[in-house]
Amino acid sequence: MGGPLLDADPVEFRANYNEKSFMFRHNMAGHPLFELPRIVLAAERMLGRGDLEKFVALGGQTKSAATKFSAMPPRERLAATITQLADAGVWLKVSSVDTIDPEYAQLLQRLLLELEQLAQFPLRSEITWASLTLFLASPHVVTPYHIDHESNFLFQISGEKDVTLYDPTDRSLLSEVEIERFYAGDYQAAQYREEVQQKGSTYRLSPGRVVHHPPLAPHWIRNCDNVSISVSIGFCMRDIDRRSRVYQVNHFLRRFGVSPTAPGRSKVSDGIKIAGIGMVSKSNPTTPTEILFSGMSRLTAPPRMLKRLVRRVVGPAS
Ligand SMILES: [Fe+2]
Repeated sequence: MGGPLLDADPVEFRANYNEKSFMFRHNMAGHPLFELPRIVLAAERMLGRGDLEKFVALGGQTKSAATKFSAMPPRERLAATITQLADAGVWLKVSSVDTIDPEYAQLLQRLLLELEQLAQFPLRSEITWASLTLFLASPHVVTPYHIDHESNFLFQISGEKDVTLYDPTDRSLLSEVEIERFYAGDYQAAQYREEVQQKGSTYRLSPGRVVHHPPLAPHWIRNCDNVSISVSIGFCMRDIDRRSRVYQVNHFLRRFGVSPTAPGRSKVSDGIKIAGIGMVSKSNPTTPTEILFSGMSRLTAPPRMLKRLVRRVVGPAS
């Protein structure tokens, strides 16, 4: 595949990137890295390395009613997912496949370069972490409403799905409190409310289409009548990582009865909060968990250390 992988209107891209969802075209639908046997090989390599947290396989019918899909060993779950893909409700995610397979790593770098050319600013120097994730899903599988910290591009390779995205800045949809709880570690903090359904934009993703999710844009996804293969490029950026620290401090302030200033309203207030969490954060984080939570976990560590100390002095509670 020698030509460009992305086919977007540069003006629309620059106007909407990281602010609003939008759809454009790509040229990866026939790429050999996204054929089913190649995806299975990548998943097997991931399992071979013991990276079990990067491999998620859910759902499915098993031959024996006594055997639960979730109780099956990962390799059996992988095989069952592939054989049941067409007719059972299974869902497979192989996260950060670029970390174990150099061909996917090269493709990720090529895509980031093309995104930077479309964005017309040094995007890659602002990225603190990036990954390429593979998704396989049966017909009609639904991914529930949620938010993500990362900026995301979801590429459809095979099959169709409907992706409904909402404005990340509309506080009637997503409140400051929900975002603060999300950055305190509650991944299900964003609450779906039936009355806001009409506020979303639904994109029909078919092979050759890609939709952009801005950071914190609430979304949910429903597969259409066929097996879906999708690829996600997700990345953290310096400014959205910094903003997450403001939300983390605000989470603490609210717990102490203070009504905190939302990010973006006061440079001074934001700067103090960012520096405060920054002082206790890991200096060279390598994963999103470390980027987002190394400061938070150190802040909450003293009570744990104190508990351990008390236990050592007075012995375990009976
Ligand atoms: Fe998501």
